[in-house]
Amino acid sequence: MASGIRFRGFSLPECQAKLPAAKEGGEPLPEGFLWLLLTGEVPTKEQVDTVTADLRSRSKVPGHVFDVINAFPVTAHPMTQLTAGVMALQTESEFAKAYETGIHKTKYWEPIYEDAMNLIARLPEVAAFIYSRTYKGGVLHEADPNVDYAANFAQMLGFQDELMHELMRLYISIHSDHEGGNVSAHTVHLVGSALSDPYLSFAAGMNGLAGPLHGLANQEVLRWLQELVAQVGSDVSRKQLSEYVYKTLKSGKVVPGFGHAVLRNTDPRYMCQREFALKHLPNDPMFKMVSDLFEVVPPILLEGGKVKNPYPNVDAHSGVLLQYFGLTEQNFYTVLFGVARALGVLSQLIWDRALGLPIERPKSMTFEYIENYCESKFAA
Ligand code: MLT
Repeated sequence: MASGIRFRGFSLPECQAKLPAAKEGGEPLPEGFLWLLLTGEVPTKEQVDTVTADLRSRSKVPGHVFDVINAFPVTAHPMTQLTAGVMALQTESEFAKAYETGIHKTKYWEPIYEDAMNLIARLPEVAAFIYSRTYKGGVLHEADPNVDYAANFAQMLGFQDELMHELMRLYISIHSDHEGGNVSAHTVHLVGSALSDPYLSFAAGMNGLAGPLHGLANQEVLRWLQELVAQVGSDVSRKQLSEYVYKTLKSGKVVPGFGHAVLRNTDPRYMCQREFALKHLPNDPMFKMVSDLFEVVPPILLEGGKVKNPYPNVDAHSGVLLQYFGLTEQNFYTVLFGVARALGVLSQLIWDRALGLPIERPKSMTFEYIENYCESKFAA
């Protein structure tokens, strides 16, 4: 959808209003999004609680996964460590075992579902382990069996603040899914179409998410803002912002966090985060800068006459919120995105197998066809 993002037909504000929250008036629980994505139905709080309990019961990560991650230097990008951790988890695939013993194709979706839920359940601990060894000298924080998926994840990362738990609920929910065409979702679908199990498929999708034009963009945005602060200080005027935007464009770079392949309006995920910031951190200087950029950047991008969407996307905001609560390690941001994205792409994968979708094999083009195509384009 060019104008927005819908989760089984519901806009994000509708999801926020309809899906159960941890507390009255708070952010919806990601478990509710998972239920909605899987079933198409809005769950009750009791149903969401069963998802929380089910994920908790599946969350044990086998020891060899940590050994595999520990084989990497701590300087390895966290996304590289994440993908390796997911590959190590593949030893647990129920689909791979069932396929080997000859499961009927109408039943494929059942072990795919088990793998998907197990993987979603185990990702927070894998991610927290990567965070700890990379940035915190290996200090680990216990899981809390009494809280929801997002709060537990935040806690395992070392964040006890209830407002940070709310941010994590919002963050995971809004990053969970964006149709089937984005690089990570499409890759999971493509690799899964070869009947590769959910671990293999998800690891492939995460390699796509690690690209700067996809999930890595969230770390780029904060870095870009920090460079600006380093150059002119934290009290940045709109004039200085606008000069910095022109300078970025003149050096042949893009303004990170603005524009989108298919959206043609401000990303609703940006707006949700903006509302969260307006409610909880209205005076934060970095938020004010993001807020000013919201007004300064679009007219500049429109000047060239070529940009179809000059508006901010989800990545323009997330880093500033995470940083406010003390999650300052930018290279880790895409791992958070990956944990969240599992909910959407694995729900899609379950449906792929339930619907019996075939192997994907796009048509290839001959070199001659490409030459002719370019010639006719240039002639036109
Ligand atoms: C996403 O959430 O994956 C992004 O919006 C990128 C896209 O849709 O292509």
